[in-house]
Amino acid sequence: REDLLLTGTKEGCSEGECGACTVLLDNEAVHACLILAIQLEGCHITTIEGLAASGELDALQKAFIDEIAIQCGFCTPGMILSAKALLMKHPSRDEICRALAGNLCRCSGYQQIIRAINKVAEEGLYEKL
Ligand code: FES
Ligand code: FES
Repeated sequence: REDLLLTGTKEGCSEGECGACTVLLDNEAVHACLILAIQLEGCHITTIEGLAASGELDALQKAFIDEIAIQCGFCTPGMILSAKALLMKHPSRDEICRALAGNLCRCSGYQQIIRAINKVAEEGLYEKL
């Protein structure tokens, strides 16, 4: 992350528990700390930086700001990428909660985060894969 200046992806627990390292691997959310680089040949990886590559924030990034779903921000890139993978499958609110079970937030509480993701889901801003 330092060599490529892609510091949005965080290292928290390093053992697959916290979700801070979440990236998209061929549009599925994965914990990067559990994957070896050699396993990724030919795969498409999206980090949080990839969501605003055009210079405009993704709908989820805007919703997290609107709903004040961010405090320190350490968990936020992983939360947003887990939510992005999920929203492409048109989830219910319960499915959103279940899908984020692997992303821990130590400071914001989860209500604003779920509200932000649900808002994007209800507005139909993501298409099914
Ligand atoms: Fe915690 Fe990867 S750093 S799940
Ligand atoms: Fe601080 Fe989630 S906003 S850990």
